[in-house]
Amino acid sequence: MSDSPVITASGGTLTAERVRHKPASKTVNPLRIGLQTERNPQACAMVIFGVSGDLTSRKLMPALYDLYVSVPLPPGFSIVGISRRDWSDDEFRSVMRDAVRENATRPFTDDAWDSFARGLFYVRGDFDNPELYGQLRERLETVDSERGTNGNHLYYLATPPSFYEEISAGLGNAGLVKRQEIYSNPRANGWDRIVIEKPFGHDLASAQHLNAAINAVFAEPQIYRIDHYLGKETVQNVLAFRFANILFEPVWNRHYVDQIQVTVAESLGIENRAAYYEEAGALRDMVQSHMLQLLSVVAMEPPAFFNGDALRDEKVKVLRSVVPPDGDRVAKDVVRGQYSDGYVAGTEVVGYREEDGVDPDSRTETFVSLKLEIDNWRWNGVPFYLRTGKRLPRRVTEIAIQFKSVPHLMFKLTEGQTLPPNVLTMRIQPDEGISLRVAAKVPGAGTKLQPVQMDFDYGASFGQAGPDAYVRLLLDAMLGDPTLFARDDEIDTAWSLMQPILDVWADQPSTMPIPTYEAGTWGPAEAELLLANDRRTWRRP
Ligand code: BG6
Repeated sequence: MSDSPVITASGGTLTAERVRHKPASKTVNPLRIGLQTERNPQACAMVIFGVSGDLTSRKLMPALYDLYVSVPLPPGFSIVGISRRDWSDDEFRSVMRDAVRENATRPFTDDAWDSFARGLFYVRGDFDNPELYGQLRERLETVDSERGTNGNHLYYLATPPSFYEEISAGLGNAGLVKRQEIYSNPRANGWDRIVIEKPFGHDLASAQHLNAAINAVFAEPQIYRIDHYLGKETVQNVLAFRFANILFEPVWNRHYVDQIQVTVAESLGIENRAAYYEEAGALRDMVQSHMLQLLSVVAMEPPAFFNGDALRDEKVKVLRSVVPPDGDRVAKDVVRGQYSDGYVAGTEVVGYREEDGVDPDSRTETFVSLKLEIDNWRWNGVPFYLRTGKRLPRRVTEIAIQFKSVPHLMFKLTEGQTLPPNVLTMRIQPDEGISLRVAAKVPGAGTKLQPVQMDFDYGASFGQAGPDAYVRLLLDAMLGDPTLFARDDEIDTAWSLMQPILDVWADQPSTMPIPTYEAGTWGPAEAELLLANDRRTWRRP
C-alpha cells in the first residue's frame, strides 16, 4: 500500500499508516478540499443595468452575496444598481435584502448583510439619456475613491437586449471605458469589463451588428458574453472527464461511437415570458446557445491549456466543422413542434397558443429536434441528435454517448435477446453524475448477459452540490478569466449554423401547419421519425 498523503480536517496530512489508527470521523472527504476557492479578485464596482428586474433578484444579487461571504470578496466590493425606479440607496438596499434572504445559498446573517449592503448604491435613469452616464461617472468616482475600487468596473447588462447597444455606446461616450486590447493587462488606473446576457442577437446579421457595436467601445478581452450553461459544474465536468482521464479519449471517435444524443428537456412552460418567447422560440432560446455549447464541449479536440483562447479556439474549430443544416436538409433533419394542452406531472396545463400573451395563431416552436453532422476526422459519419422542448415529461439535461456493438459476441444470446451497446451518459441536471452502461453476466450457471449501470453521483462523491452557475461566472468575470464565456467568433459561428434553418422556416407559408405534441409527452411524432429513419430511437431519460 502506498503512503500517499490524506488531507485532514485540520489541513495537515497523514500517511496511510497513520490513517489506519485515526478514527474515520476525524478525516474529511479529500475530494471536498478542492471545493474551497483560492481565487481572490481585486476590489471592483459592479454596475448592474436593469437592477429592478427578475434576473437581479433571483440570480445576480444572491450570487454576489454568496461570493461576498464565501470567497470572500474584498471589503471594498461595491454595486451600483441602475433602473427607472424611483429608489433611494436605502430603498434599493431593502429590496435587495429581501431578494438575498430568499435566494442566497449561504446563510443570511445581519452582520454579513450590513457589511455587504454598505457597498450598495443606486442611480435612477433612462438608458437612452446621456445624463444617466454623467451621473454614473460621478457616482463611480466617489465609490472608487471612498471604497478603494480603484477604477475597476464590471458593467452588467441585465436589461432587455434592445438596450445593449445603447448602453455600451452611452458608457463609451461618457468616457467610462478604458480600452484594453489584451487579456490580463493590469493597469494602474483599473479595468472596465462588460458582461452581456443572452440572447446575443436575434439572428446572424443582428448578432454581427451587435458584436461590431460593442466592439467599437470595448475590446474583445473586455467582453464577457454569458451562457449560464458553461457555469454549470457538470458541464465543466465534461471537460474534466474527457481531458483528465486516459480511458475515454481513445474511444471518443467515429471508430467506437455510434451516435450522440443531447437532450435538454424542461417540464416548465414559458412562465411569464410570452413576449420574449414568441420572438425567440426554442431554436434561438436553447439550441443556438446552450445546446451548441454542450455539443462543442463534447465534440471538440483537446485544448493545450485550460484558458480563454485555447478552449474557445477548439470550440470554434469544431463548430466550424458542423455541416450547416441548410436547404433540403432542414425538412429532413430538423423537426419543430408546439405543445398543445395536456398533463405534466399530473397537473393539467394549457397549450402554448392559449398561454397569456401568446398569439392564438402563433407559429413559434416550443420544441426542436435536429440531426447534425460534424465533418472532421474524429466524427465523420457519427450523427449528433439534439432535442429540447418546453412541457416535456420532466426536467432533464443529459449527453448520451452510445458506442458501437462489439465486433463479435462469443456468448450465445437466448432466442429474441439483443445485447444493448455501451452507453455513457453525462447527466448535467438534475441528479448530476455520469453513468456507464455495460454488459455483465447474470449470476448462476450458464452465461446469461444483462446490461448493468456503473454510476458516479456528483453530490454523493463530493458531499455537496457545486455553486450556482452565476456564482462561478461572476467570479470569473471579476478575475478577468473569460474561459467560460462565449467569444465573438463562437457566437458568429453558432448563429451561422442556425440561420439556414431560420430562413427555411421563414419562407414556409403561414398556412403550413407546425407539428404539435401533447404537453407532458416527448415531442411530436415527427421527432421519433427523425431517428426511426436512421433505424435508431431516442433515449427515455
Ligand atoms: C434560459 C432560457 O437561457 O435557460 C430558458 O431562456 C430556459 O427558456 C433556461 O428555461 C434553462 O436553464 P436551466 O439552467 O434551468 O436549464
